[in-house]
Amino acid sequence: MLAIAVFVSGRGSNLRAVLESPALKSLIEVKAVVGDKLECPAFDIAKNFSIPVFTVGKKEGFISFDDLITVLRNLKVELIVLAGFLKLIPENFVKSFRNKIINIHPALLPSFGGSGMYGMNVHRAVFDSSAQVSGASVHFVDESYDTGRIIVQRCVDISDVNTPEEIAERVLRIEHQLLPYVIEKIALGKVFVDNNRVRVET
Ligand code: GRF
Repeated sequence: MLAIAVFVSGRGSNLRAVLESPALKSLIEVKAVVGDKLECPAFDIAKNFSIPVFTVGKKEGFISFDDLITVLRNLKVELIVLAGFLKLIPENFVKSFRNKIINIHPALLPSFGGSGMYGMNVHRAVFDSSAQVSGASVHFVDESYDTGRIIVQRCVDISDVNTPEEIAERVLRIEHQLLPYVIEKIALGKVFVDNNRVRVET
């Protein structure tokens, strides 16, 4: 079983998709859910699945990123999944889990990524650009927002949408398939990084 930690900041629908994925049941164990605030809907999902939750940050009572490294090492966590986590991951933490942190982004990177590009901001920017396709990207996390190597992407036609909300809905549906798919591939040892290019065995 691959030991996983999922980092969240809000609703947690991607966390739920991972926890409820039939394909992942025998492949992964979610050892911890980590958030950047004391309460968020995603924590309730974690509690329903009896998964320990942690709040990371600089505020009093929060665990620091450095201490979190130790906690996750003690839990033998092998993969960290950012599923709607909004804070930038500090350099030291990235270094400690190089190529072991992945993020799901609700657009086709390298477009529509970077600082401030989260949630509806992304879908509004896509809508305003008049892009005719959008999609979701899962990528390795490096020291900046949304710049790590892309692992898998999936597209969705948005040529007929009337609002950014419609884009969000279509992309979210894809996210809920894509994230469990990538985690499954990693758990099965089918994701390789060759000369900085990521290859996924089908
Ligand atoms: C998703 O669209 C994800 O791609 C983005 O933030 C959103 C989180 O949604 N990074 P949820 O909390 O998983 O419902």
